[in-house]
Amino acid sequence: MEALEFVRSHHDKFLQELKDFLRIPSISTQAEQASDVRRAADWLRDRLLEAGFPVAEVIDTTGHPVVYAEWMAAGAEAPTVLVYGHYDVQPPDPVELWDTPPFEPTVVGDDLYARGASDDKGQLYAHVKAVQAFRGTRGAPPINVKGIFEGEEECGSPSLEPFIREHAERLEADLALISDTGMLGKDTPSIVYGLRGLAYVEVEVTGPDHDLHSGIYGGAVLNPINALCAMIGELHDEERHIAVPGFYDDVRELSAEERAELEAVPFDREAWLEEAGVTTDWGEAGYSILERTWARPTLDVNGMWGGYTEPGAKTVLPSKAFAKISMRLVPDQDPERIADLFCEYFAGLAPRGLDVDVHALHGAWPVLVDRESVAMQAASRAYAQAFGKEPVLVRGGGSIPVVATLQSVLGLDTLLMGFGLPDDRLHSPNEKFHLPNFYRGIETIIHFMDGLSRSSLKGE
Ligand code: BES
Ligand code: MN
Ligand code: MN
Repeated sequence: MEALEFVRSHHDKFLQELKDFLRIPSISTQAEQASDVRRAADWLRDRLLEAGFPVAEVIDTTGHPVVYAEWMAAGAEAPTVLVYGHYDVQPPDPVELWDTPPFEPTVVGDDLYARGASDDKGQLYAHVKAVQAFRGTRGAPPINVKGIFEGEEECGSPSLEPFIREHAERLEADLALISDTGMLGKDTPSIVYGLRGLAYVEVEVTGPDHDLHSGIYGGAVLNPINALCAMIGELHDEERHIAVPGFYDDVRELSAEERAELEAVPFDREAWLEEAGVTTDWGEAGYSILERTWARPTLDVNGMWGGYTEPGAKTVLPSKAFAKISMRLVPDQDPERIADLFCEYFAGLAPRGLDVDVHALHGAWPVLVDRESVAMQAASRAYAQAFGKEPVLVRGGGSIPVVATLQSVLGLDTLLMGFGLPDDRLHSPNEKFHLPNFYRGIETIIHFMDGLSRSSLKGE
């Protein structure tokens, strides 16, 4: 196919462009970076126009802007795919642990190191280049392509649902397509058919109404940090199940068949331990590592603070202690209900005299997508063509809030075609994208769009 040749003769150009994208520190959670987030949106719009999209615009929201693009290249009879991606990135901290500067993209061997390289700028950009390859060879893509690229994914997508509701008509499509997940290994292509949901809460506990001298009062006044630690200790039982009453009520248990399937997924425990930098695994009794991370709900403290944390010793009995706690959810758990159950249980754990404030920050529904769909079959063929190997069906442990929103608001099914690798270090220092996956990702998308144009997706 000529479009593939086009990609192969433009590797260096595409890489240089991706590096330009990665130089923009579009950190959505930090207010000081708002102008950089917008700069990334403008940059992306310009590249979409260059790739041939006749419509590409930056649309304001109450938060960071959405970049919308549209190319109805193939007529009303042809399928329309809505590509989603996020151009915002996580903060780079702790910056001192990076071997190369997070916003100075650096190629080492086959890998491109930078914040956002894999999550999600590199994966998003593969779609832009796939469309451009069609434009450079056939004049236009063989299907209709719409794009919605948000700048708030890493902070819970607060403006996205209102945006999708408001622009529902414009966003009409037959299928949503997202590259924001990973594959099992560089030579083991896989397609994710399920994602976990999320309920994120913040807790604040207050003891004395001001900090106290720990020598004068210590031992006779309840220390809120000590108390918070004890409360957190009550969140799991001795078998590492989550102790919040009602937490598992809506959990869909794995069928024997799915357990056997997960068991058959090629999984290298030693490599996994090494990637995680740990010497042993941990988790809910009775479940394997893949089951625990893909198909079981979890609860983790993401951060905890209070009292004196500067260098040296200060003898103080603090007034307050805080924690941020996330729960990963699986079908059919409802993020709001889980947050409510947590709040109720947590408040009840407080010893007398401790004031507890718990509030939910944001949530995402867990999702499972149809594994038998026409689109899924086209995706399987596309991976096989680009990687020379049939993909394995897997689940992902992370969350992409838009997937459930697209389903509930637009009735759209999503296909998750990820090109990340397990050692990409998403959200961590030294994030990277494996460049062969960038190029093969573009080729996979080309095969997919080409295959879809000949499929019966429209008539389903
Ligand atoms: N791309 C990730 C989600 C992901 C990673 C899914 C790996 C499957 C495998 C996404 O950018 C992300 O980090 N999402 C957040 C959710 C959000 C509400 C902050 C997450 O999962 O923590
Ligand atoms: Mn992502
Ligand atoms: Mn992310």
